[in-house]
Amino acid sequence: MEAYSTWKSLMFRLLATVLYISLTHPAVTEAKDSKPAYTNFVKTKCKITTYPSLCQKTLIPYASSVKSNSTILCIKALNVAIKGARDASVIVSRQKEQKGITRYEAAAIKDCMEDVKDAVYELKLAVEAMGHLGGEDKEFQLSNAKTYASAVITDADSCTDGFSGRKVNPDVKDIINRSMAVIIKLSSNALSLINHLYV
Ligand SMILES: *[C@@H]1O[C@H](CO)[C@@H](O)[C@H](O)[C@H]1NC(C)=O
Ligand SMILES: *[C@@H]1O[C@H](CO)[C@@H](O)[C@H](O)[C@H]1NC(C)=O
Repeated sequence: MEAYSTWKSLMFRLLATVLYISLTHPAVTEAKDSKPAYTNFVKTKCKITTYPSLCQKTLIPYASSVKSNSTILCIKALNVAIKGARDASVIVSRQKEQKGITRYEAAAIKDCMEDVKDAVYELKLAVEAMGHLGGEDKEFQLSNAKTYASAVITDADSCTDGFSGRKVNPDVKDIINRSMAVIIKLSSNALSLINHLYV
């Protein structure tokens, strides 16, 4: 039983690692299509973000559709964060299957699932706001996009908080932390790009 439990815990760690790698190392084949000029645009924009190398790795694959449009780059960054949040949600939900999960842990996992669901919703609202920058209420839409992207970070933090300060399975805690860190980093990058849109 002990061996099985250890194996299972290893599997969870492996899954979390695979998720992280697949998120931060997108398929190389996609990047090949990108013309160097457009790749340079993304690279330059990424320099002002909180996590520049993650920004480059996740957004260079979209360089040829972004071309040199900063608004589209922001939308791509938000979409990457949505994908990250959805993948994280799968990982979080699987933690319910960890052996010997306590009622407290199960409740924290459930709350976290809600937080991630809210995060995905807010990211979608941010994408929507970014799509409405052509109108008269441009400033309002832009400020909404910033508010939504910031709220995502708050939600991911709130999930992590649910697992701190109490005796919680360290494996579960670690996996939750790493999953939330992916959401936080991707959303922070999207927010940096939005903040610098007209600067
Ligand atoms: C960038 O793309 C958006 C959305 O497609 C479009 O509305 C905007 O005019 C483009 N900006 C430039 C400078 O081409
Ligand atoms: C998870 O993150 C929280 C807050 O960011 C921290 O207090 C806690 O120690 C972290 N847990 C692990 C296992 O890294």
